[in-house]
Amino acid sequence: MDHMVYSPKLRLLDMHRDLSAVADLIELCFRDQMDADGVAYIRQMRRLAQEMAYPAVLLANPPRVHFSGLVWEENGKIIGNVTLIPFVKDGKPVTLIANVAVHPDYRQRGIGRALTARALEVIRDRGNRAAWLQVREENQPAVQLYHSLGFVERTRRATWELNPKYVKAGALSEGEVTSLGARDWPQVRAWLEALYPPLIAWNLPFSAEPLRPGWWPDLQRWMNGQSVRHWALRGGAGMIGALIWEPSRLSADILWPAAAEVNLVPLLTGVLPFAVQDLRSGRPLTVNLPVWVDGTALGTLGFQLQNTLIWMEIPDLG
Ligand SMILES: CC(C)(COP(=O)(O)OP(=O)(O)OC[C@H]1O[C@@H](n2cnc3c(N)ncnc32)[C@H](O)[C@@H]1OP(=O)(O)O)[C@@H](O)C(=O)NCCC(=O)NCCS
Repeated sequence: MDHMVYSPKLRLLDMHRDLSAVADLIELCFRDQMDADGVAYIRQMRRLAQEMAYPAVLLANPPRVHFSGLVWEENGKIIGNVTLIPFVKDGKPVTLIANVAVHPDYRQRGIGRALTARALEVIRDRGNRAAWLQVREENQPAVQLYHSLGFVERTRRATWELNPKYVKAGALSEGEVTSLGARDWPQVRAWLEALYPPLIAWNLPFSAEPLRPGWWPDLQRWMNGQSVRHWALRGGAGMIGALIWEPSRLSADILWPAAAEVNLVPLLTGVLPFAVQDLRSGRPLTVNLPVWVDGTALGTLGFQLQNTLIWMEIPDLG
């Protein structure tokens, strides 16, 4: 909390002073893994930093985004950062720890540990019982740090991305691509909920209800300026699966596959070329899969593995 006494080096982030230096630090520390959304995030931080420099403008237009966190300062230079993002999970306030970053010249001196440990105290003092974070599975220094502070793995998911220009026609799949109707929904919903259970869904922009097919949901989406597209793959024995497209404000739109696990690859193989032709947007498409589903076959369809994220939690901060 604000009245806490910090060591002179470790203090709360001050949005008016620190944002630009924090943006530089995050860019430096994450440049090897930064995707288009990361670049947009840094740009947004820099824009906010500029707005912060003009109090008159701020008064008229209060910032829509609020950055909260801790920084480590040495000789007037910010060399460490932790960002704290509050959100609600299962009706309870929890905090996501993000942007844990230490300048390469200052690593392995305990700064990352001190920042994260203090962040946990701040979160607890703010009345939150749980802290969450996500980390790429290959980032062993960070994974070790979080384990040693008491974080436990809750789930792991992979994100695959396809540039529609490079969609490869897979081996001929059985079945016929058709529309998806309202009466298909109970089955499709059950498949979706099996692939995206709550532990996976809460950290994705996934919610089954807004994806429901039918003329009435279509009309409601149209009135709200939203859109969703559906395709079904049907074989002799009935529906093999469905593919649902949802636009996103991030750099890639989202595909939600719905099928029994064994049918995921036949579904994508059969429907993807149709879907790409239908969409004609040229925008990249992502598919998120929990890691218990083997996604390697997506590579043969032209997808590239973007990352595999481990989601970790400290469930009870005391
Ligand atoms: C991860 C990062 C913040 C660690 O910062 P740091 O100041 O070097 O970490 P610390 O010196 O406090 O080390 C804390 C623990 O992290 C682990 N760790 C740190 N560097 C490590 C390395 N190179 N290899 C293995 N473990 C390492 C160790 O468990 C260490 O504990 P120990 O010193 O008792 O063995 C830093 O490496 C970094 O900025 N990386 C790039 C950005 C990033 O990936 N952030 C995490 C995103 S989830």
